[in-house]
Amino acid sequence: MFNLLLLTCFVFLGHAELQHSTVRGITMCSKNRTTAKVELYEADTLDPDDFLNSTITNSAGEFELSGSEDEIGSIDPYIIIIHQCNAKNNCYRFSKYYVPQSTINGVYEMTFISLDIITADDRERC
Ligand SMILES: *[C@@H]1O[C@H](CO)[C@@H](O)[C@H](O)[C@H]1NC(C)=O
Ligand SMILES: *[C@@H]1O[C@H](CO)[C@@H](O)[C@H](O)[C@H]1NC(C)=O
Repeated sequence: MFNLLLLTCFVFLGHAELQHSTVRGITMCSKNRTTAKVELYEADTLDPDDFLNSTITNSAGEFELSGSEDEIGSIDPYIIIIHQCNAKNNCYRFSKYYVPQSTINGVYEMTFISLDIITADDRERC
């Protein structure tokens, strides 16, 4: 009985589902549109995070980026925007933004992203 329960459990948990995430936005710095690099990742608790996709905004700061992942349970995507807004000369800021669970398999429309704001996970690399 216990084995059967365990087996049912594994079958249930083992069902990975292909899920996708699309993020759209316009990067801004000091009230102006700015170019930046955008990378999409998926956080994994046990393995290193998976890189899914990357792009560079156009000169108007606009980008759209999507990625998909086969995952047991819900995927946990985030983007890293690499930019020079308020960064020291020759340095880049790496600002992390989480993608809300409610937008999985849909579009996360960020509209204007003010890169002046220091996110909870924001690093400067020189
Ligand atoms: C923002 O754009 C305006 C108009 O093009 C320009 O005068 C100003 O210097 C820009 N500011 C920054 C911080 O780039
Ligand atoms: C990367 O994102 C672009 C823009 O959304 C999309 O066209 C392309 O298919 C994506 N590539 C992968 C591997 O998901």
